[in-house]
Amino acid sequence: MSDDVVAEQVRYYRRRAGEYDATAYGDVGAARERIARLVARMRPAGRVLEIACGTGLWTEALAAHAESLLAIDAAPETIAIARERAPGAAFEVADVFAWTTAEQFDVVFFSAWLSHVPDSRFPAFWAQLRGLLTDGGRVWFLDEHVDEQAKEAWVGDQIVERTLQDGGTFRIVKQFIDPATLVGRLRGLGWDCRIERDGTDWILGEARPVAGR
Ligand SMILES: C[S@@+](CC[C@H](N)C(=O)[O-])C[C@H]1O[C@@H](n2cnc3c(N)ncnc32)[C@H](O)[C@@H]1O
Repeated sequence: MSDDVVAEQVRYYRRRAGEYDATAYGDVGAARERIARLVARMRPAGRVLEIACGTGLWTEALAAHAESLLAIDAAPETIAIARERAPGAAFEVADVFAWTTAEQFDVVFFSAWLSHVPDSRFPAFWAQLRGLLTDGGRVWFLDEHVDEQAKEAWVGDQIVERTLQDGGTFRIVKQFIDPATLVGRLRGLGWDCRIERDGTDWILGEARPVAGR
């Protein structure tokens, strides 16, 4: 996977910020209820990091449970919207692939982010996550099930083309989640992962480092 597509997907989400909620979630009120239900099930207590927070629909729900919450995203335009939604959270504009911190977190969460991580960066990303977790910490993630993949315009291996309302087109990374494949892949990297479905479209995963690996 070329770095160009990884950079292009940041430009895409920056330009999409103002239309993201309506085009990604449709009925935002219904999405908020669904998100609040799932976050309550996740019980994200303690110090929480949210990666790729976008416009903050998950951030506001996480903030209701977390002791402290840091949310990062590469798009300042989405962070500006998220700040309004979750005024109690701390925000940082950051490219997650280049981001480092001395902090550790009890929960690291990301929604609709793992499917944008190309295979070439997958092992390094999970090594990064391991360093971000406290002892006993866990990763929680939400993403789209592989059954949803026909909705995209595929233009290459792990690459789809998206069109904005102004007609602009962008290539981004997309890898829908096949639960068994992902669980096996993470096991190979030293993670114990459980995945469940919510509806036909979403999967929820919880991953913990295997002790001693
Ligand atoms: C599909 S959106 C998900 C937003 C939010 N988590 C949600 O579920 O509504 C993907 C997000 O990833 C962010 N993103 C893309 N590349 C990134 C990178 N390299 N580092 C950090 N964030 C990135 C985009 O700006 C965008 O907000």
